[in-house]
Amino acid sequence: MSTRTNLSALLAVLTVVLPAWVAQADPIDDRASQTEAQMTDDERFGMIHSIMGAASILGKEPDPRIPKGTPMSAGYARGVPRLGVPAQLQTDASMGVTNPSNSYRPDDPGATAFPSSILVGSSFNPSLARRVGEAIAREARVRGFNVLLAPGANLTSEVRNGRNYKYFAEDPWLTGMMAAEAVNGIQGVGVVATLKHYAANNFEHNRHWQDAIVDRAGLREAELLGFQIAIERSQPGSIMCGYNKLNGDYLCGNDWLLNQVLKKAWGYKGWVMSDWGAVPKWDFALKGLDQESGVQVDVMQWGSEAFTDKLRAAHRDGEFPKDRLSDMVRRMVRSLYAVGADKWGPPPPIDMAAQNEIALEAARQGIVLLKNQGAVLPLAIDRPLKVAVIGGHAQTGVISGTGSGAVMPVGGYAGQINIGGAHGKMGPARSLFLFRPSPVDELAKLLPSAEIEYDGAYTPAESALLAQRSDVAIVFAIRVEGEAFDLPDLSLPWGQDAIIEAVAAANPNTVVVLQTGNPVSMPWRDKVKGIVQAWFPGQAGGTAIAEVLAGKVNPSGRTPVSWPVDLADTPRPTMPILGTKWGMPVTLRFDEGGEVGYRWYASTGRTPMYAFGHGLSYTSFDYADLKVDGGETVTATFTVTNTGTRAGADVPQVYLTGVDETKRMRLLGFERVELQPGESKTVTVTADPRLLARFDDKAQQWRIEDGNYRIALARSAQAPVLTAEAQLDARLFGN
Ligand code: BGC
Repeated sequence: MSTRTNLSALLAVLTVVLPAWVAQADPIDDRASQTEAQMTDDERFGMIHSIMGAASILGKEPDPRIPKGTPMSAGYARGVPRLGVPAQLQTDASMGVTNPSNSYRPDDPGATAFPSSILVGSSFNPSLARRVGEAIAREARVRGFNVLLAPGANLTSEVRNGRNYKYFAEDPWLTGMMAAEAVNGIQGVGVVATLKHYAANNFEHNRHWQDAIVDRAGLREAELLGFQIAIERSQPGSIMCGYNKLNGDYLCGNDWLLNQVLKKAWGYKGWVMSDWGAVPKWDFALKGLDQESGVQVDVMQWGSEAFTDKLRAAHRDGEFPKDRLSDMVRRMVRSLYAVGADKWGPPPPIDMAAQNEIALEAARQGIVLLKNQGAVLPLAIDRPLKVAVIGGHAQTGVISGTGSGAVMPVGGYAGQINIGGAHGKMGPARSLFLFRPSPVDELAKLLPSAEIEYDGAYTPAESALLAQRSDVAIVFAIRVEGEAFDLPDLSLPWGQDAIIEAVAAANPNTVVVLQTGNPVSMPWRDKVKGIVQAWFPGQAGGTAIAEVLAGKVNPSGRTPVSWPVDLADTPRPTMPILGTKWGMPVTLRFDEGGEVGYRWYASTGRTPMYAFGHGLSYTSFDYADLKVDGGETVTATFTVTNTGTRAGADVPQVYLTGVDETKRMRLLGFERVELQPGESKTVTVTADPRLLARFDDKAQQWRIEDGNYRIALARSAQAPVLTAEAQLDARLFGN
């Protein structure tokens, strides 16, 4: 046997016995260690805190610690130029490169405003998430930013959460797949991606004083599993911990979450940065936090910076070990090296038209057709239709989510209306942002024979007058959602529900186009013929919406969240903490544990208004030949056929629906399939075994019981088409 064979045999044994990260010597680890070993403590301390570049937003003078000429953004952390370690220039985020109120970079011409993550999640297309990630990172890199503060990977487990639009889905497998590809896209461009807001940061209200109570096994099976899958498939360079507490400990000072789960059980090699204003104490450094972000925000929030003078003092006093400081720094250097941020040449030029095409393609794939009674859509393009377009500023543009992720497009907003509010420091900045082109203009281009009239939804009676003399009435309904506030109920603001009722009473062919970040209750649902969910569709959203309405695009989005009939049909029918003043300590229970979203509907025997995974098409699809194998995991093979007359994309979904006599609902896999009329495709889905297992918190392992696993091939979590059973063998496995 040659030495090489001996070595491979030894490595093979080690790989079986030890986690992959221990067994494989990694040259990047070695390089990072060598670099870190040459640093002075002063250099080390310079890297482990970032400074916010937004003087005017904070109402302060520019911080002298940021060297002149540095492009301003959410965070700047010192590099070590003599050792070739670049400074970290960190920018938001998942809908494009931000520049809130133009205050970071007054000369920045604006960036591409991509659709919100919940829309990208609706595409069920991980490669789309990758393209969007790549595109955003290109615009970050051309500005000199080497750390992107995206993507978000929390689950949309609470339907009132104002920030759900920044997340992909309520399901961990879908979230993990989408977030992983977003990270791969970003890091492929040489920019470090940041998976956030780790973890159990599922509600905004009183987020600095909120304690989320969730059982650990449930977290492992839902919220944490999404993060875990994303991390395994993409190795994001950094992870941002969120604001609130989890089971009594702040997320950024949560030893269980950071040290035990993320770093030890999962072997995460990158660094953990805090959210802005999430570090009340220096000893979070001992709990797994590697970098304090936006130190000025901690001063505003808690009265002092944590990882500067205080941590240095703890270091001097021997309370903060040298090894830990080195570990923090090594993690950052490693992540910068891993994406090649230390070897950047001149940035490749950006083709903004091509960037817009990616934003448009994303919007096309993520818009969801929820209802289409009597084939009211697509609109007839060859008849002189009288089309009433009503409300939602549809003559001006489409709307965006608000908060730190809002993007200013090239040429500025088509409109901006301040809403204000009392929700902490971000309340006053809460705004309705509009992107051009407008749906009205885009519809006019696609329907040259139509007569299109716009009504501003001033009063129900006025809107009804136009609806009455039109062949079809399209109401655009909007709701601003965003950071630092939640939605007290599922209604639409500004009396829009009443407008829709009046329009639907006046015109039997009423279609509603929603732009919201969450499901809304739609009391008028049975009175309208069509419902289109456009989420926050980005700067090309007006075009994509018009294309879907006119049938130029065949809708293929599937809702990645369950739509409750009303709040009584959710795990928390009431939410008393919403009534508390900003600054008040509050407790929020997530008693559903791992049974998040559609899993909860199944386990409690409830039927949502629209199920997770639901979405219609202008063509039809048939499923056949479901074959399921068991053993270590479930493998399902089946055929999808486009049985209609138009090309289109379908998303067949494979679910576990129960084990023996017990109900247990889990999405095991899905695939977005594009098919020409009459075309068929065979699809194979192999389940990640963790989706078939329960997490045993005592054993710290996943446990599959032997039994009969019931499997469904379905159009949504509530629409099984074919079913089968598989026998699985009992086993325990990590991590
Ligand atoms: C948000 C983060 C964001 C950070 C920096 C915070 O308010 O929670 O998502 O990355 O600000 O702007």
